[in-house]
Amino acid sequence: MDYDHVLELDRTDPLAASRAAFDLPEGVIYLDGNSLGALPRHVPGRVAEVIGQQWGRDLIQSWNRHDWISMPARVGDRIARLIGAESGEVVAADSTSVNLMKLLSAALALRPERRTILSDNGNFPNDLYIAQGVAGLLDKEHRLRITDPDQVAEAIDEDVAVIMLTEVDYRSGRRHDMSDLTARAHAAGALVIWDLCHSAGAMDVDLNGSNADMAVGCGYKYLNGGPGAPAFMFVARRLQPVLKPALSGWMGHDQPFAFDLDYRPAAGILRNLAGTPPILGLTALDAALDSFDGVDMTRVRAKSLALGDLFVALARERLACYGLEIITPEAHDVRGSQISLRHPEAYAIIQALIGEGVIGDFRMPDIARFGLVPLYNSFADIWHAIERLEGVMAAGTYRQPRFRERLAVT
Ligand SMILES: Cc1ncc(COP(=O)(O)O)c(C=O)c1O
Repeated sequence: MDYDHVLELDRTDPLAASRAAFDLPEGVIYLDGNSLGALPRHVPGRVAEVIGQQWGRDLIQSWNRHDWISMPARVGDRIARLIGAESGEVVAADSTSVNLMKLLSAALALRPERRTILSDNGNFPNDLYIAQGVAGLLDKEHRLRITDPDQVAEAIDEDVAVIMLTEVDYRSGRRHDMSDLTARAHAAGALVIWDLCHSAGAMDVDLNGSNADMAVGCGYKYLNGGPGAPAFMFVARRLQPVLKPALSGWMGHDQPFAFDLDYRPAAGILRNLAGTPPILGLTALDAALDSFDGVDMTRVRAKSLALGDLFVALARERLACYGLEIITPEAHDVRGSQISLRHPEAYAIIQALIGEGVIGDFRMPDIARFGLVPLYNSFADIWHAIERLEGVMAAGTYRQPRFRERLAVT
């Protein structure tokens, strides 16, 4: 593999132009968009306008004049296109955790005779914590069963009410087969909630094509909505009328401004809203979604896989001798949009690499993660990242004590 070949990949990349829409610091190779997406250039201006003009001048009238009130639905509709959903099936609201809590509680109520929530040990632990909390709150002897990722299918039995899975494993980057597992769940009478945190914006997710029931996902990774951006939730249209919101707040009421004393859920996806929408966060996310306008998600997926293939090929060629083991599956159909390497000194290696201008991150216990974001990562980024990682390994820079000091956020 030589650098000319890599430059040719960039020259012929149909998504190459979209990189200019992002404000990446000079000299930094950013491979952490699977944790926090980069800043789209026009986001600060749009947020400043909403603060200065809409909030500052138009004040409370903005709820109507600038239609703030329908932002969760409007932003949801824009996300819907990226994840294979229809308009009216997605809202942007709350955090992934809160949306998961809402959907899991409501889904369990649809299968009152069943007691098992099925998940896997590749799931983001937060989702398991949420399930444990929901089970405690409902106090109906629900149990959370956690299997290995490749044993989920065989663990589906008649007691499973809800299967709760993250499509792409946050550590290894392994991808579940959404269609197959959803079909198996339905055959056994169970519902499925998919967490799309590591999928939305990175690949061509097909929720309706997979006959999915419900999904959640965050706005701050591949959707680039900024730190703590509002998340989203999907409920298939066929389930919307029967799903009874657990967090029955006024924004999900049929008539929020009638101020009735009794809760009556809105029709459709809106019933899943709870409190006042965070307009500034939604504005940033809405503006960030402009980067996806006119973008074909199958092209995004194709580039993500090509970036990954290049990473794997170079890592094999140049890093294997340093004991860096590739743990991301190589086959395209079971891979997300990151490449992960295992090494006992992964934490220090990532810190040393950041010192060289390449930002990746670390996950316990020994995983160095590199997110691949087709809208702004180039093939040359991958080349230079591997080159600098090889430098860090060859010189042993990571052994310096300063790189071993654990920061609060890894
Ligand atoms: C798969 C997955 N689910 C859930 C979360 C947590 O979401 P939040 O903290 O935004 O509620 C994350 C965060 O990284 C995640 O990766």
